[in-house]
Amino acid sequence: MNIHEVLERVKQLIEVESEGAVSVVRNYDPSLPEFNADPDQITQIILNISRNAVQALQGQGGITFKTRAKRQYTLGGQRHKLVCAVDIIDPGPGIPPDILPQLFLPMVSSRAKGAGLGLAIAQMIANRHGGLIQCQSEPGNTCFTLLLPMEG
Ligand SMILES: Nc1ncnc2c1ncn2[C@@H]1O[C@H](COP(=O)(O)OP(=O)(O)O)[C@@H](O)[C@H]1O
Ligand SMILES: [Mg+2]
Repeated sequence: MNIHEVLERVKQLIEVESEGAVSVVRNYDPSLPEFNADPDQITQIILNISRNAVQALQGQGGITFKTRAKRQYTLGGQRHKLVCAVDIIDPGPGIPPDILPQLFLPMVSSRAKGAGLGLAIAQMIANRHGGLIQCQSEPGNTCFTLLLPMEG
């Protein structure tokens, strides 16, 4: 799959869903090669993270999609020649500190109608691909990083 095709699809969806109030800024590494992964499942991960960002922004502002290659990178105890890193960055208020340690557990949500499954499912899909999702958050800057091995 081509990671930038997936990101372009999510960018379009997000911009349509937010009726243009949220825009996505691209910061792509064009040298990233294609790799073996399920594009629909990777789309689900990036869409889930991006929808959370839109909700955090309360319909105003910009999200950044950034891609980079990481060489000789260890994921879950295994060393990989080449890893794809996708950052999804938003300038919203940040993750409430009380839920940050349990962010990827099911049923952790700060929203009244939130099921709290989005990030748990996203992390499960990433793990099934040999990858993982990390998060760093402070008010004004939240960054989710999806790391995927690019073998094959
Ligand atoms: N970009 C973000 N900015 C602020 N909070 C976030 C962000 N992404 C996730 N969160 C927090 O993490 C919680 C869990 O997210 P998620 O697993 O998708 O469940 P849900 O969206 O159903 O609440 C959200 O309720 C929200 O509090
Ligand atoms: Mg969600």
